[in-house]
Amino acid sequence: MSKNYQIIIPQKLEPAKKAYHDFALDVLIGLSESPKKLPSKYLYDTIGSEVFQEITELPEYYLTRCEHEILEEHKEEIAEIAGNEQFNLVELGPGDGRKTKVILEYFQAMQLDFQYAPIDISEDALKGLIATMNGFFPQLEIEGLVSDYFEGIKCLSAMRRCRNFVLFLGSNIGNFNPSETRVFLHRLWNALNHGDHVLIGFDLKKDVDMLLNAYNDSNGVTASFNLNLLNRINQEMGGNFRLDHFQHYETYDVFSGAMESYLVSKEAQSVYIEKLQQSFCFQAWEPIHTESSYKYLESDIILLAKETGFAIEAHFFDAQHYFADSLWRVEKVLQK
Ligand code: TRP
Repeated sequence: MSKNYQIIIPQKLEPAKKAYHDFALDVLIGLSESPKKLPSKYLYDTIGSEVFQEITELPEYYLTRCEHEILEEHKEEIAEIAGNEQFNLVELGPGDGRKTKVILEYFQAMQLDFQYAPIDISEDALKGLIATMNGFFPQLEIEGLVSDYFEGIKCLSAMRRCRNFVLFLGSNIGNFNPSETRVFLHRLWNALNHGDHVLIGFDLKKDVDMLLNAYNDSNGVTASFNLNLLNRINQEMGGNFRLDHFQHYETYDVFSGAMESYLVSKEAQSVYIEKLQQSFCFQAWEPIHTESSYKYLESDIILLAKETGFAIEAHFFDAQHYFADSLWRVEKVLQK
């Protein structure tokens, strides 16, 4: 009897193709929704990453400078907590690693026994970072992982049985909404072992005008950063967005504590995206939400750690209390 059935298990797409596929799908979903939205992670293509670098140097954008100050001022305490035993210094979404250099330099000078393990979904970004770090620190052992954060941590733990010290710097965590933040932290806790550490950057609640200026600088760098998302859709997916028909807009929601970034359609228009074989209609003054950046009170941070299974080891602030890096320890119940 011949078999008249077969079972096919499709091969997984290679990471670059999958990323492109996800991007197209997210654009389709986001622009079909009401209100329209585009996920902020897509702001960081090659141009976007360069423009973001410019943002971090703007006088209005205090975040990067404050965190740099915190790491410089507190590297000794951070190294002490990292300890003398062998560990993985894991970094989630390292960007250009400029702030991380402060930590790497000091840890090396103190002769701590660690390897640096940056995890990023973008292979190009990771290769660039590794080349830079290798140039700066030729002795540094680097194990870069092109993967999703949690898969990356699990893969590392399987390869090398030692403590993990995870860096999640910048205000990366601020780009998750409150429920995504909790899911992220639970997943992080789950991927780590008892006694592992995480150092997370939180932007703090402050004078509203200062927040508004940080996200809407007078030279329009932030505006071009936000608008580049439409440019990216044009380039990668054959869109015909006219950038001059959209306006960058920022607002702060005092109640949810989030800076909200939008691209607002200045007129009624329709935009065709070839890759999706679909047109999207915009009414005059219709917004696309592109990013929320949540700001924290110290009490919010304490509550968050407690709710997701971490014990707080220390809170580090800059002199003006604009930003905080919070150092947590993973707490698991070892036996019952
Ligand atoms: N995630 C960064 C932040 O929250 C990036 C950022 C700065 C940003 N300015 C922006 C994102 C404007 C969108 C629009 O600070």
